[in-house]
Amino acid sequence: MAKLIKNGTIITAADTYQADVLIEGGIIQAIGTGLEAAGAAIGAEIIDAAGKYLFPGGIDPHTHLDMPFGGTVTADNFETGTIAAAFGGTTTIIDFCLTDKGKPLADSIQKWHAKSAGKSAIDYGFHLMIGEINDEVLAELPDIVHTEGITSFKVFMAYKNVFQADDGTLYRTMLTASELGAMVMVHAENGDVIDYLIAKALAEGHTEPIYHALTRPSMLEGEATGRAAKLAGLTGARLYVVHVTCEEAVKAIAEAREQGFDVWGETCPQYLLLDQSYLELPDFEGAKYVWSPPLREARHQDVLWNALRTGGLQTIGSDQCSFNFNGQKELGKGDFSKIPNGGPVIEDRFSLLYSEGVAKGRLTLNQFVDLVSTRSAKLFGLFPRKGTIAVGSDADIVIFDPAAERVISEATHHMNVDYNPFEGTAVTGAPISVLSRGEFVIRDLNFVGRAGAGQYVKRAPYKQPVQAELATAP
Ligand code: URP
Ligand code: ZN
Ligand code: ZN
Ligand code: ZN
Repeated sequence: MAKLIKNGTIITAADTYQADVLIEGGIIQAIGTGLEAAGAAIGAEIIDAAGKYLFPGGIDPHTHLDMPFGGTVTADNFETGTIAAAFGGTTTIIDFCLTDKGKPLADSIQKWHAKSAGKSAIDYGFHLMIGEINDEVLAELPDIVHTEGITSFKVFMAYKNVFQADDGTLYRTMLTASELGAMVMVHAENGDVIDYLIAKALAEGHTEPIYHALTRPSMLEGEATGRAAKLAGLTGARLYVVHVTCEEAVKAIAEAREQGFDVWGETCPQYLLLDQSYLELPDFEGAKYVWSPPLREARHQDVLWNALRTGGLQTIGSDQCSFNFNGQKELGKGDFSKIPNGGPVIEDRFSLLYSEGVAKGRLTLNQFVDLVSTRSAKLFGLFPRKGTIAVGSDADIVIFDPAAERVISEATHHMNVDYNPFEGTAVTGAPISVLSRGEFVIRDLNFVGRAGAGQYVKRAPYKQPVQAELATAP
């Protein structure tokens, strides 16, 4: 149904202004004042947003829903995860499609469609994991980019003997991706060295969760980030470093960008707000805080905030990858290396960044929008359909009350998991209502959407074939 949102303050990555928004057919038809007659002509419902911000719907570029990992499967699937995301102001996610060596990539993509179709409450796309490069893989990739609209490939530099690919595979993925206009994403940690450090710690009898952090030093993240960035410079590929946690990695990205390399970085709320000491909580509770890369010493947090403020890091992902404490995280009791890696953040990503970023004066409203929505839309081939409030864009809009106060808790969150890593954190500001393509998914703090209403989004390559040809011409 058509809608006219009146009296709100529109915030985009560039502008802050008061105007009304007219929506029909899922699309923003007009922005301005004096739209009442046009609204009445199409029977638009009037929504009053006085005192509220209108943000473009959040885009979470990094989720793992219904994903097998660490001998178990994530607690949130595409239904519970996307409903929680919507409560938190996110209207689009890009999830990581895992692949199996020796099997057609198309089979893995179909598997991911089967997990998500009919379940997702918000729009969604996929990144594709590349674990090997061979003739079969090379033959499949053009169609995956141009027909499936999957325009980002993920290479793991860690998780040895599970997901890790070698540098040759990373290099060849970059060569192919840059020809196709696809972006390469990396989990940047030196998996070979970490594998040795884990074995050594276990042999010495160190089994507690804190050893997860102690066997993955930040230097090894910085080293892998710099290595990937140099390979990107060499191949001309566009590189996106997921979940940056530390000063060493921020520096490696800055150095690459100074040299003109096409390198981008994401961080996550957990690295901005939690630190390594959480891994030392008693009664195995530290396992709740096991992410890879690990939480770092608190001094890294200022470096990350500063990079967000000054453009050294460009996006915020949740890295949603939830496992219950009871029954799942517990798999690592007596051996930290068996704790399933990851945590539930999809619901609170947006609010935490607003509260800790904007409300605490670290970020402007426009920087906030860029980090939680617009920049991801631009980097991942969704802009201007998504990531902004503009005529012709999808009406993905968050009606946000900057004065609301709430406390994050497992008791009230909507994720299907038995703890919240931000339990007890007070946040300022809350998404009150959330629209996806012009329909309410959340209305006055209640879910009114539908599992399955979300659409698969095909994404555009970041450069068109003609430019690719010019770029590779002799
Ligand atoms: O610990 C994490 N980050 N789990 C999810 C998988 C990944 O590496 O992104
Ligand atoms: Zn990762
Ligand atoms: Zn020791
Ligand atoms: Zn991840």
